[in-house]
Amino acid sequence: MAVCIYVPYKTLTLNQEMTMKKKVTFTQREPIGSSTYPRPNDEPNLDLINAKLKSSCLEKDRCSTIYVHIPFCNQICSFCGFNKFVKPKDQKEQYVVSLIEEMRMYANTTYVQSLDIQAVYLGGGTPNSLSSDQLQRILNFLTSNFPLSKECEITCESVPTNLDSVVMLKQYGCNRVSTGIQTFNKEVRKEHLKMRQEKEELIQSIEFIQSNFDNFNLDLIYNLPNQTDEVWFDDMETALKTKATHLTLYPLILLENTPFHSDFVKEGKYPIPNQTREIVFFNWSLDRLKKTDLNHCYTSRDWAKKGKHCRYICLNAENNQVLAFGAGAHGYLAGTTYRSHRILENYNSETLDKKRLPLERQCICTKYELMQRYMVMGLRLLKRDMRSFEEKFDINWKEIFYEKAKVMQNSGYIIINDDIIEFTKEGNIWANNVRTYFEEEKSSSVGYTDTVGIGSSGRDHYGSISRIKKD
Ligand SMILES: C[S@@+](CC[C@H](N)C(=O)[O-])C[C@H]1O[C@@H](n2cnc3c(N)ncnc32)[C@H](O)[C@@H]1O
Ligand code: SF4
Repeated sequence: MAVCIYVPYKTLTLNQEMTMKKKVTFTQREPIGSSTYPRPNDEPNLDLINAKLKSSCLEKDRCSTIYVHIPFCNQICSFCGFNKFVKPKDQKEQYVVSLIEEMRMYANTTYVQSLDIQAVYLGGGTPNSLSSDQLQRILNFLTSNFPLSKECEITCESVPTNLDSVVMLKQYGCNRVSTGIQTFNKEVRKEHLKMRQEKEELIQSIEFIQSNFDNFNLDLIYNLPNQTDEVWFDDMETALKTKATHLTLYPLILLENTPFHSDFVKEGKYPIPNQTREIVFFNWSLDRLKKTDLNHCYTSRDWAKKGKHCRYICLNAENNQVLAFGAGAHGYLAGTTYRSHRILENYNSETLDKKRLPLERQCICTKYELMQRYMVMGLRLLKRDMRSFEEKFDINWKEIFYEKAKVMQNSGYIIINDDIIEFTKEGNIWANNVRTYFEEEKSSSVGYTDTVGIGSSGRDHYGSISRIKKD
């Protein structure tokens, strides 16, 4: 547990005044922002969690989200480090049974019934690698047993094949789809991503989505091998011709233990992705999207049409509770961050045989850690209203974080306007570095996906992310 003694900013010492004049220059772009903080490193105390679940949550903490992890894919992509497996049908079915059992353990509690769930995210892995029947059972259980708000946003991640099963989820309230395109370019897909679908087929899949959902996201990756400027421009223009209401643009992240990593680093097949190019791609995309109706860039990787921000992303950044289900999923409940067992066999056996919550790690947060969480999660949003800090912690945010925030302002990354923190254009490029700056060094975070640590990686295992080349 991180312990920190803080000094109110009104009584700054000379030393602190000096620190505030400091400037920091980030040189290596941090590709991974913390998606949960502080990292759950401790053995779980199930008695304590079960005790907390017996009482209602405070009125001010009711707003929450749900994340459900589906750790299966039909094919493993060469760059991906998420917690996912290719498994036969019977193992998928066993997992679905365990998952529903885990959800049942939470659903019946006073605490969970006192929540107001405003967004649900079915993520992966690949939810549509399950059968329609399995997906429907999961969503049916969720919508019938959890206190979902009337306007609840329900997103399902997918790959652009077998989309029928996703469309079937409409009848259970699924109202948003996110699908991973990565690139439309035939050569890059075939040669580097080993993906079979060609541009025309991808466009047909997107058309199928848009004929069924009026709110959907496309994921694209920039700085892939042989993705020239022209290829990226075409990727963007093709995406812009669709009716996508949201785009998520990821820089390529090289993760150890992925085939990509071996190709780039060990076998030297391709030059290591270059940071200058990554920033050029990013700035170009920023400028291009500014001229379209997808001009609401609200995190360093998410662009939305007006009113189409992903509510799940925003609510989590605003530090609401996250009920997370599934193998390797990370949650945040009753002041505790937690992670479930990543290995499927352990997850299944805890849930089905031992009939207990399948938690593998937890962190019961101190008040200071909760404050830090507020900053680290909140600065995922490029414009953050800090006034709710005082409602939550009975102290103004500046009392705790002014010193660090001032350094970030002096360095040109953010602008502090009273209680609003806003990233500058330069700050947007270095947004994950800025967030990391507010973390306690010894309490590392989990990176990248929303609620699932990427396998053995994440920033707690720095070595497993290959740094892109500095110039
Ligand atoms: C984990 S996937 C889940 C949804 C679905 N399976 C898919 O492939 O779209 C979400 C997105 O993460 C992104 N992603 C995964 N690994 C990445 C990496 N190493 N670098 C950059 N983006 C990555 C891809 O854009 C992918 O669409
Ligand atoms: S990117 Fe998506 S489909 Fe590919 S391996 Fe990762 S989770 Fe599976």
